[in-house]
Amino acid sequence: MEIVILDGVDAVDRTAADIVERVVRADPAANPGRSAGSTAVLGLATGSTPVGTYRELARRHREDGLSFARCRAFLLDEYIGLSKTAEQSYFSFIRQNFVDHVDLDDAAVFSPDGDADDIAAEAQRYDAAIAAAGGIDVQILGIGTDGHIGFNEPGSSLRSRTRVKTLTEQTRVDNARFFDSPEDVPHHVLTQGLGTIDEARHLVLIATGESKADAVAAAVEGPLTAFCPASTIQWHPHATVLLDEAAASSLALAEYYRYAYANKPRWQHL
Ligand code: PGA
Repeated sequence: MEIVILDGVDAVDRTAADIVERVVRADPAANPGRSAGSTAVLGLATGSTPVGTYRELARRHREDGLSFARCRAFLLDEYIGLSKTAEQSYFSFIRQNFVDHVDLDDAAVFSPDGDADDIAAEAQRYDAAIAAAGGIDVQILGIGTDGHIGFNEPGSSLRSRTRVKTLTEQTRVDNARFFDSPEDVPHHVLTQGLGTIDEARHLVLIATGESKADAVAAAVEGPLTAFCPASTIQWHPHATVLLDEAAASSLALAEYYRYAYANKPRWQHL
């Protein structure tokens, strides 16, 4: 796990975009598990945090020729009971904030269908679709103030697969800003499990702002526990945590992380 404390949200966005760009531009032959004809399989998070990263990637698409035309993408989660086309669905969110601004094929962007008749079957189908795509090369993650990743709320099984979860009241309150009224926030979601997320080849957790500081400290310096689902990234062989100073403000070893990053060997990528 590598913890990188950066000077401001823009630096976080640029660094996350650098990681995604390197994967998108990489030779497919160098990535075992990828099917022929496809470049990167991206794992996209929704919520406010990654929006700046998506904006930066869209800028590189416009100005630097970064092409997503051969990529596929999988979302982490979706609300249950909202139609895909509802403004607050993550199906819509990722299109408004990323897909519509780049050359990613809309048909190559997948998300769990929270409006499916058989939600349990949809969950299994989604995990199978990720596996059939060869797995996710780079998974962007936000973190909830209660330590969730995806919508894996505290108590989520560490090896869980895509399934239904019940949102905590704290998460419903945090997400109320996207809805007309707080009561409109659904209670249930379909989310990749912690075990599903753990199979991505590179996890990139992004957090900015003081409201995330305690959750970040619990995730990276606390115990590996279902009580803080984001702590499962400690278990992953390639996890990068990108923070601004505010989100890093509760870390005990912040000085060490700054020192390690400042002295990072030039040949070593994130
Ligand atoms: P946010 O959400 O990026 O909107 O803060 C993060 C999350 O709930 O995972």
